[in-house]
Formats: sequence, structure tokens, C-alpha cells
Amino acid sequence: MIPELFSMNDRICLVTGGSRGLGRAMAEAFLDAGAARVYITARHVDAVERAAAEIDGAFAGDCVPIAGDLSTVEGAHTLAADIAEREAHLDVLVNNAGRGWLAPLGDVPEHGWDKVMDLNVKSPFFLTQDLVPLLTSRATQQRTSSVINIGSIAGITANPSDTYSYNASKSAIHQMTRNLAFTLAERHVRVNAIAPGRFHTEMTEFAKADPASYEAELRMIPQHRWGDPADIAGVALMLASQAAAFITGQIIPVDGGTTLVA
Ligand SMILES: NC(=O)c1ccc[n+]([C@@H]2O[C@H](COP(=O)([O-])OP(=O)(O)OC[C@H]3O[C@@H](n4cnc5c(N)ncnc54)[C@H](OP(=O)(O)O)[C@@H]3O)[C@@H](O)[C@H]2O)c1
Repeated sequence: MIPELFSMNDRICLVTGGSRGLGRAMAEAFLDAGAARVYITARHVDAVERAAAEIDGAFAGDCVPIAGDLSTVEGAHTLAADIAEREAHLDVLVNNAGRGWLAPLGDVPEHGWDKVMDLNVKSPFFLTQDLVPLLTSRATQQRTSSVINIGSIAGITANPSDTYSYNASKSAIHQMTRNLAFTLAERHVRVNAIAPGRFHTEMTEFAKADPASYEAELRMIPQHRWGDPADIAGVALMLASQAAAFITGQIIPVDGGTTLVA
């Protein structure tokens, strides 16, 4: 029973921002659990094609690259149309691509605010909306579809970083998660969010530049470490599979205990 609960056998998945970092780790987890096909997207063609080829070679299912920019609603519409041309249904959508904007209060430009909101909130909403027909087409109580939004603990507690639009965007996607979960529950689509704490990825490289503040941050995290991308694999697999068949609208921190003390 347990292997069956976590099985991704036969499943078709889409992971935005899957060329590296957390997105890649989730794509690999789905294929490792038996997914038939996982689409990964990113802007840089070479990087997404290289990642897909590496992942594809490691698992029985297919990893398919799609290059595209999700920083506009047009980009979200294009991706949804591309998936609809290739597939009659979709089991799992992971809205993972995201970005930040670091600037002290007083110096935050409007275009910086918009870039973050567009990629982290607006595109995930329109991509999900466009993909509802595919997400619902085969979904049943015994085979629920799953949308996983990647939020952040920055959307749960305040932090000292000058990342105003990022923190607001992550709070927004958490609330959007609850809202969509409510709407889609009776159509057998579950919508949850993962709220990562600090993870070692390209996005957070800047925060290790000053060893003293990096060490100070580690001391504040109850588990005294940052996450590795593989640390997100288990919870993503649970949310994607029937293991979470009765879980929807939840925001799950994966943060080494950071939100316990923040
Ligand atoms: N790392 C952390 O500590 C942390 C903590 C909390 C939340 N998160 C969230 O986790 C998610 C993944 O972060 P990560 O750390 O794995 O980041 P990452 O290593 O920088 O990877 C980001 C991925 O998104 C793609 N991407 C970026 N901008 C895009 C755009 N405009 N259109 C399409 N794809 C785009 C990137 O590829 P291209 O550059 O080729 O487009 C890449 O595949 C984000 O939503 C982030 O906010 C991360």
C-alpha cells in the first residue's frame, strides 16, 4: 500500500524553473517515483536542454525541456498552449520559477517590484487557470491532480532582508493557494504550497558572500544548516502523489525549524 501511495506511475507533470535548484530536484523526484513524463521549463535554452538530457538519462520516464520566459502573462499562455498541444491531461503542475529583488526601503524601483510580482504571482495564477481543463480532465477522487506552488517562509514571517516585493509575493501565493484549493477541491484538484527556508541554490549564493553573516544565520536556524535541493524532494513527492489525497490548501514550511523561532 505505501509504495502505491507515493507512486507517480503513469503521471504527467510540469515543473516551471526545472533546469536547476529546487525545480530540478522535484522533477527528478517525480521521475524516480515512476512518472511517465516530466516537462521542465526555463528561459535559457542550453541550460534547460542540458538538464533535461541529464535527468532523462537517469530514469525510465521522459524529461522534456521547454524553453520560455514566464515573466509575462503571454509567456504563461504560450506554455499552457504548448502543453495542451502535447498532452490530453496533466496530473501535476509545480509553479516553481521565481525571483527576488534586493533594494533598501527608499530605493525600490517600480519595475523591480513588478518583475517579482509578475513572475512569482501573476504568471502562476494565469498558468494554473489555463491548465485547469487539463488538470481536471482525468482527475478523480482515486487519482487526484495536484498543483504545488513554491512559496517561501519569507511569506510567513518577517525577515530583516530588503526583499519587500519578494516577501509580499510569497504571502500572495500562499493565499492564492488556499483560494484555488477551495475552488478546485470538488473537481479533484488539490492545491498546496511548499514554503522553503534557506536552500543552497543559485538564488541564494549572494547570501553566502559574507561568511560572518552566513554563520550567524546558521546559528539562528534550529537545525543549523541550509537545505540542500534534495531536501524538498520528499515533501514534493508526497503532495504530488495520492499520499496527500486528503490534503489541500496547506502551506508546508520546509525550513529546518526556522519558523519556530522567527
Ligand atoms: N533557494 C531558496 O533558499 C528558496 C527559499 C524560499 C523559496 N524559494 C523559491 O523556490 C523557487 C525556486 O528557487 P531556486 O532557489 O531553485 O532558484 P534558482 O536556482 O535560481 O532556479 C530558478 C529556476 O527558475 C528559472 N527561471 C527564472 N526566471 C524565470 C523566468 N522569467 N521564466 C521562466 N523560468 C525562470 C531558472 O532558469 P532560467 O534562469 O534559465 O530562466 C531556474 O530554472 C523560487 O520560487 C524561489 O522563490 C527558494
